[in-house]
Amino acid sequence: MNLFGVRSSMAALATFAVLTFTARAMSQATPSAAVAVTAPWMNATLPADQRADLLLAQMSQDEQLQLVLGYLGVNVMGPYGRRPPDYLKTVLPGTAGYVPGIPRLGIPSLIASDAGLGIANGGHLRPGDEATALPSGLATAATWDPEIAQSTGVMLGAEARDRAFNVVLAGAMNLAREPRSGRTFEYAGEDPLLAGVIVGAEVAGIQSQHVLSTVKHFALNDQETGRLRLNANIGVAAARESDLLAFEIAIERGHPGAVMCAYNRYNGTYACENDPLLNGVLKGDWKYPGWVLSDWGAVHSTVEAANGGLDQESASGQDSREFFGAPLRQALADGQVSPARLHDMVHRILRSMFAGGLFDFPAAKRSPDAEAHRAIARRDAEEAIVLLKNNGMLPLSRSLRSIAVIGAHADVGVLSGGGSSQVIPIGHSATDEFPITGSVQILPDGSKIVPGGTEIYDPPSPLAAIRAAAANAVVTFTSGDDAAAAADMARQADVVVVFARQWMSEGRDVPNLELPGDQDALIAAVASANPRTVVVLETGGPVLMPWLDQVGAVLEAWYAGSGGATAIQRVLFGEVNPSGRLPVTFPTAEEQLPHPVISNSIARLAPFDVDYFEGAEVGYRWFQMKNEKPLFPFGYGLSYTTYRIGPSVAVAADASSASVSVINTGTVAGSETVQVYGAAVAPEGPGTRRLIGWAKVPLRPGESKQVTIALDLRPIAAFDEQRHAWKLGGNYLVAVATSSQTIPATATIALPSHELSP
Ligand code: BGC
Repeated sequence: MNLFGVRSSMAALATFAVLTFTARAMSQATPSAAVAVTAPWMNATLPADQRADLLLAQMSQDEQLQLVLGYLGVNVMGPYGRRPPDYLKTVLPGTAGYVPGIPRLGIPSLIASDAGLGIANGGHLRPGDEATALPSGLATAATWDPEIAQSTGVMLGAEARDRAFNVVLAGAMNLAREPRSGRTFEYAGEDPLLAGVIVGAEVAGIQSQHVLSTVKHFALNDQETGRLRLNANIGVAAARESDLLAFEIAIERGHPGAVMCAYNRYNGTYACENDPLLNGVLKGDWKYPGWVLSDWGAVHSTVEAANGGLDQESASGQDSREFFGAPLRQALADGQVSPARLHDMVHRILRSMFAGGLFDFPAAKRSPDAEAHRAIARRDAEEAIVLLKNNGMLPLSRSLRSIAVIGAHADVGVLSGGGSSQVIPIGHSATDEFPITGSVQILPDGSKIVPGGTEIYDPPSPLAAIRAAAANAVVTFTSGDDAAAAADMARQADVVVVFARQWMSEGRDVPNLELPGDQDALIAAVASANPRTVVVLETGGPVLMPWLDQVGAVLEAWYAGSGGATAIQRVLFGEVNPSGRLPVTFPTAEEQLPHPVISNSIARLAPFDVDYFEGAEVGYRWFQMKNEKPLFPFGYGLSYTTYRIGPSVAVAADASSASVSVINTGTVAGSETVQVYGAAVAPEGPGTRRLIGWAKVPLRPGESKQVTIALDLRPIAAFDEQRHAWKLGGNYLVAVATSSQTIPATATIALPSHELSP
């Protein structure tokens, strides 16, 4: 349910009942709640904007200034930075950010956790604060299933509430323009429609639990190298047709309470003081009613930031600088920032808090339903796994006599990505085996300090899951550190399952798309000893596969989270028919990318420009434009069954939908993802095909369905910079496809010249 849904269902309740509930809830939240409960802004039947205005009218300027200034939470080595007086009493370890509430008026504190892939707790972990690790954001995008994304959001929101957080810094969704970006695993791939729909659904799920979510990092923080210093240059229309379109779609679907502005500059100006981006696009064209909060340490000015559209400075004082607080008070006194602007900041924060239910449904501590949550994580992982190659050796038979399992710490768990989104999963509290690298400090109270740069493996182990599934087989394991020993083990087994890993982390890009270390040589050695080899990839994003022809099958399992081992085992043994589809192109070589080398990978210290000359032709669109053949295209994925689509496609006269038949021609049940791409056909030829809709269709063996797929035409419209509008008109190709490159049915349509209404 989105914020509007929350509001309208609440409106159905009688005022009296709401106020009674609120009185009880608020009395748990703040000692002075009794004052607030009779206040007019506590009438939950009023619209959020009206409640915000009623409350704002009661606030002194000091109180308004308090609400627009955030503090750093307790992370890594305990509390640091500048802190408000009630800080140690109020803020829990594992908190990323904190804005003190105003008890006099019943305004709750905003207590934020990082939470893209579960409630993050990577810095300072107290016993009992372990969380369910979801698969990576890219994995969830690979499900192509907004319902799954929404269910992960509901789970995330519930675990946030159970820990007493009311804001989560989720919704990470920079486009995978640079697949080596260290945060590719957190994001939702390279396509604006897919990323927008998936992240929008997740945000809606989170907020249904009365926890606010962000979307981030707005905008063009598409690589980690030099993220604080880089200036992303891109044409205005191209940005609207790519990275910004992804945010536009996620915001209209998920209604996030806040948008986090990014570290980098965007077309010459820091994102957190970028008037065209924040006031122009976000609050102007999109009429976004929520608030803009900064990334941690991403503010560089007071007057420019306040007037440029920033509504709240996060983590003030983390590097002993503070731009809102006292400097903002001075700027108001000097007339450089108007009182109306401060009111607007506060109004935006309060209206999101009212709309999200933060006043009416305060979070309180509870034990999470760990088993139910692991099942949600497992389903996400199962639907996300992409079968990249299968010469027929999958699914594995349960009557195998021997299986060799090799590599990637498959005896411990499945890899997760590093940085602020890091989750220490449930199941690790009893054991110290999770840090494979780095050393964990245990404090006297039993809590743990987990240093950054630590590779964390989520239990249970794939080895244990495979042993349980193949009860009659001898299942051996070796680490893969010794390729000759691994090849020997492989030679003696019926089947080999090699796990390979690529660790990614916020703050650093991967140097290239090769599997790190000697893993390529290990796989080649194992496959030449036994060609009945399955490779299971645990990667943050795309990798190169020089050994592809030598192996029998390849599964991309991404970072699979707390349900990952079971999901991998169930796909390997055919209990689950793989249905994931790539949300990102896998290149054959890095030379095929628009930027064969990451910008400024060498000179890291000075400010620098990244020129996104490829404009909106991101990912698969670039490959089409350049006629490059990828290793595996966007949208690709195999199955244990086969499907037939078409042969014809019917497109509605206004192109709002396309209808096509799909049949499962094989012998097992499965889900086909029917994709629709569109391209403008100009006299000089068609433009690049772009995803305009899809449906994931479950089919029993032999079953056929006629599916009607809603189309979003913005990806194939041209953004008109003067009119701030999407323009369509002329001939368009509509291609029904099973990947960006496999197109069983097409139609050509003509549309009159028109602008899409906002
Ligand atoms: C990251 C954000 C994160 C914040 C708080 C920043 O370094 O870029 O994604 O939410 O830290 O931990």
